[in-house]
This record gives sequence, structure tokens and C-alpha cells, in this order.
Amino acid sequence: LTATELLYEGKAKKVYATTDPRVVIVDFKDDATAFNGEKKGQIAGKGEVNAAITTRLMTYLEAHGIPTHFREQLDARRLVVSHLQMVPLEVVVRNRVAGSLEKRLGLAEGTVLDEPVIELYYKNDALGDPLLNDDHIRVLQAASPAVVTQLKQQARDINRLLQNFFEERGLILVDFKLEFGIQEHALVLGDEISPDTCRLWDKETLQKMDKDRFRRDLGGVEDAYQEVLKRVMS
Ligand code: C5P
Repeated sequence: LTATELLYEGKAKKVYATTDPRVVIVDFKDDATAFNGEKKGQIAGKGEVNAAITTRLMTYLEAHGIPTHFREQLDARRLVVSHLQMVPLEVVVRNRVAGSLEKRLGLAEGTVLDEPVIELYYKNDALGDPLLNDDHIRVLQAASPAVVTQLKQQARDINRLLQNFFEERGLILVDFKLEFGIQEHALVLGDEISPDTCRLWDKETLQKMDKDRFRRDLGGVEDAYQEVLKRVMS
């Protein structure tokens, strides 16, 4: 299997078409951005860390009945994944208050949410990925009501599995973002799951072990990513 044309270059990944139309190759970059691209930088070794963590977590989810796009890891930074028709929504699941929810609701960071909070955002750089309600999604025809229901259910199931996975490794899953696609009329988990897309706190010290270290200039970014990798692989 070889990469042919570059299909898409995102902030943290490149996606290549291949000689097999059913699969694409994802190449994880060290580039990091925050605040809708306003803050730019690099996190040394991030591409390899995120490729490895995504591989481990997608494999774990598949083993627990969640259909994902993951097929195989090609090398340190590259994965072979199914070619999906992406749903233009970001599905955010929150177990504790942080980030934009802290701002939106004015609750203290770390407040435990009795039930997970699920939010859908429109993937649109020009609009700055706005939060959508079900009516907005209908107007935009971003996804059918049936797909929205399924997205939320899948997100809840994935949350339960990942919460357990991280808990066993001394990490609190504060929140995370998922993206889904359609393949032969079925909803399939796509994109990545990594410290770029999750908030993870050490269970004992509540230290931030994720991209918030980069966003908020907390230092120790590379070390935090390496520590998450070590725990995820254990
Ligand atoms: O910024 P906010 O608090 O809404 O982010 C919620 C979660 O979704 C965080 O874990 C963040 O890393 C993730 N996220 C993401 N990509 C985005 C927006 C949020 O991975 N474009």
C-alpha cells in the first residue's frame, strides 16, 4: 500500500489517498495549534505519541464493540484507516467542567458533572466551529436526526469505555472530542484520540497531562505527552 495524492492537510495531520480507494493514510505532525489557529507551535515527538495513543485506544474500542476507522499502524507516525464520508460535526463529551464549558456556564474548573454533557460543534473554520443545537443542525443539514441520536449514543458508550481505561491508568478523563464518518450506511468513529483531543488529569495530583499545557503555556508539554503514552501502553 502506498500513499498517492495529498487529500487534505489539517493543523495536526495530513491525509493521503492510496492505491486502495477504501483506505487513506493519516500522517501525524508535531505541529500544534490552539484558539482556532491563533496560537501556533510544535510539540517535539507529538506525531509519534498521538499515532501510538490513537492506535491503542481505537484498538481497545474496537475490541469493545465500537466500529472505528482504524486498520493498522504503518510506521511511527502513520496509520492506515478506512476512507469515511465525514459528518461535519465535532462531538464533545464532558465529565468535568473545563475549557469552553467553564467560560460558557461560569462554573469552577474541575466541577464533576453527574451525567456527561454532550455538545455538537459545526466543523467550519470560517465560523470558528460554533456550538450547534438540534435545530441548527437541521437547518444546516449537517446530519439527519437519526444520525444525531446515534452520534450521541456512540459518544456516551465510548465515554464509559475510555473513562474506565484511563481510570485504570491513574488518569481522569475530563473531556474529549470525537469525529465520526459514514461507511456503507454505518456510523464509524474516525479522526484521533490523543492528548491533543482529550483533557486528562493525573488522578492523584490533578496535574494537567494534555494540550492545555501548550494552550496555557504551563511548560512540560513534551513530558506530559510522553507520560500519557507510557500509561496508555501499560
Ligand atoms: O475547548 P473546549 O473546552 O470546548 O474543548 C473540549 C474538549 O474537546 C477538549 O478536550 C479539547 O481538547 C477538545 N477539542 C478538540 N478540537 C477542537 C475543540 C475541542 O480536540 N476543535
